[in-house]
Amino acid sequence: MPDIAFVKPALPRSGALVLPLAEEATLAGLAKQADEATGGAISRGLEAAKFKGRKGQATTLWAPGAGLSKVVAIGLGKPADLAETGAEAAGGTMFAAIAQEREAVVAADGLAPALAASMAMGVVLKSYRFDRYRTTEKEEDKPKTERVALAVSDTTKAKAAFAPLQAVADGVFLTRDLVSEPPNVLTPADCAERCKALTKLGVEVEILGPKEMKKLGFGALLGVAQGSAQEARMVVMKWNGAPKAKKGKPLAFIGKGVTFDTGGISIKPAGGMEDMKWDMAGAGTVIGLMAALAGRKAKADVVGLVGLVENMPSANAQRPGDVVTSASGQTIEVINTDAEGRLVLADVIHYCIEKFDPRFMVDLATLTGAIIIALGHEHAGLFSNDDTLASRIEAAGRATGETAWRMPLGEAYDKQIKSDIADMKNVGGRPGGSITAAQFIQRFVQGKPWAHLDIAGTAWSSKDTATTPKGATAYGVRMLDRLVAEHYEG
Ligand code: BES
Ligand code: MN
Ligand code: ZN
Repeated sequence: MPDIAFVKPALPRSGALVLPLAEEATLAGLAKQADEATGGAISRGLEAAKFKGRKGQATTLWAPGAGLSKVVAIGLGKPADLAETGAEAAGGTMFAAIAQEREAVVAADGLAPALAASMAMGVVLKSYRFDRYRTTEKEEDKPKTERVALAVSDTTKAKAAFAPLQAVADGVFLTRDLVSEPPNVLTPADCAERCKALTKLGVEVEILGPKEMKKLGFGALLGVAQGSAQEARMVVMKWNGAPKAKKGKPLAFIGKGVTFDTGGISIKPAGGMEDMKWDMAGAGTVIGLMAALAGRKAKADVVGLVGLVENMPSANAQRPGDVVTSASGQTIEVINTDAEGRLVLADVIHYCIEKFDPRFMVDLATLTGAIIIALGHEHAGLFSNDDTLASRIEAAGRATGETAWRMPLGEAYDKQIKSDIADMKNVGGRPGGSITAAQFIQRFVQGKPWAHLDIAGTAWSSKDTATTPKGATAYGVRMLDRLVAEHYEG
């Protein structure tokens, strides 16, 4: 990612200058200086290009004079509408326009320091690339940006506003890396190993293998893992950031980490199966979230737990019809081995309650295709037994652009997962498929405050968005970081 700097307004003598401009705005401050230095070439150029400052509008003027290689005007829309997400989107658009420049100066001197910081966040978020496995890419196709300097009126305030955002961006990048890794590389053991890097940030990391989990009675999680040559792992990450006087129950985040989901014996069709490498996005998000919280030294005690397995068909794989005993003691008839995520979560959630008695639990999982049918790719599905927690999550989602839509729970849905021979079965039929999946998880939360985010439609994007290149989105890192910051610190 490019280095971000906040500097006093001064005209660069060369390179690119970026002008974020609202609708109807007249050039002021650094932008006006630049216009004067180029003998009015900028205002004439923008006029000729019919640049109006509309949201998302981007116009490039080449070699306008004064040594500048280019001036990029970015539309911010109506001044009154300019909020955090708008500033971020402008930052993203800006990055795309300057990707071939080594350095750029942004005339952000007309913006409040917090908005300038959000704009910088947008630049950073959009700069993400997963290029580990490209060996033949041409030099001219690679982005070049090393440093983006935002000229602001108050550098101290802007720097202070950006510092925590940088930590969050680091968490987002970690999640995107984990989710993008191919499934032959990112096995459960490999993913667990990578969690150890968080110790550098002050996170305590504990890794449990099949032996330990067998002792804990993780029959549901291990049932999924048994068909794979890859051993299962559970990783427990602890961030103790609450001040001494404020110690209490920790907050808990739990992620589904199926490093590859073939469906098992209930095997999936071949077309698009490669997408199932990102069936560990829930876990990836929890890991990135822990990195973000620790990186910005959040004043809260937080635990992150991820259940890591690979779902494969083999001679050892579990069968449709098998009955497994979960860590909670409840038995589950496995009707469909492709409904594996809920089996993994059942044991990890039970462990989380027994071990940490958390203040609340939020689980994240690419759990059902049905949530994509219900909500498309615009919202995650939110299920909760706690209205306060649910509305806080919705609000944090709106503030960060990672939105969730609340879905119902209820007795009638719960009936759909009654089994003839065990305490429950792992599928409830096609009607309300995401809801019956949530009902299944709810049977393991012991009535504690809990929310479930079904991120099957939001963890991965098949198209570029303002601040996300196509691919892993890290949906949830920013939302849940915000949830913690807004309600559970200090
Ligand atoms: N990982 C999938 C859900 C999924 C599907 C995520 C498509 C992203 C895109 C999950 O394990 C699964 O296979 N769910 C089944 C459940 C069914 C068997 C009840 C599904 O959604 O088809
Ligand atoms: Mn599945
Ligand atoms: Zn799955």
